[in-house]
Amino acid sequence: MYSGDPAALEVLRGRRVAVGVGGGIAAYKMAAVVSTLAQAGCETHVLMTEAAQRFVTPLTFEALAGRAVHTSVWEQADRSDPQHIRLARTVEILLIAPCTMDLLAKLVTGQAEDPVTLLAASIDRAITPVLLAPSMNEVMWHQPATQRNLRQAEADGFRVLAPGSGWQACRTVGAGRLPEPDQLVEAMARAVAERR
Ligand SMILES: Cc1cc2nc3c(=O)[nH]c(=O)nc-3n(C[C@H](O)[C@H](O)[C@H](O)COP(=O)(O)O)c2cc1C
Repeated sequence: MYSGDPAALEVLRGRRVAVGVGGGIAAYKMAAVVSTLAQAGCETHVLMTEAAQRFVTPLTFEALAGRAVHTSVWEQADRSDPQHIRLARTVEILLIAPCTMDLLAKLVTGQAEDPVTLLAASIDRAITPVLLAPSMNEVMWHQPATQRNLRQAEADGFRVLAPGSGWQACRTVGAGRLPEPDQLVEAMARAVAERR
């Protein structure tokens, strides 16, 4: 149940938005995000990497978003838009969360082999914001490769959301926690509002 800023839902009302889910333990939190977006009347397009589908099933997002989920670049959720080009041109924001260490590396090196990175590659970030919400354990977060890739992502025009600090699934406490669903929704609303 959303208990964030009600104004955020008003900003998002009726928007065409995309959510790319990566293969991290926090993928389950994205069910709450997609549910809130649906309640805000968004046309929500969910894309999942193969690893993401090991954590949460596409059926969960399909039921919440009320539309087919993009699970493979080879099997089309929308047959009239086989390369996601129309989606990339018409969506008003893309949130990638959890953005795993692996997904971050793929984004900054221009890979496009799964629905999430392919959509990101097809979006003009000068027009449409692409938000990354990194989520990983503290050791992965502090790796030089991660920190280097975060700097590169920002230089490349991705908007990186700061992760929280706290309890992690690996039973330690530290940096790298995915922000809570309400915070992710509010961040989307802020980025959409700035775009107008
Ligand atoms: C139980 C489990 C939890 C994981 N959680 C994370 C995580 O929170 N963050 C992360 O970067 N990788 C995590 N990984 C590793 C990723 O799943 C792995 O790197 C995967 O290739 C990422 O795929 P993606 O690029 O589709 O996100 C986890 C792996 C397992 C088995």
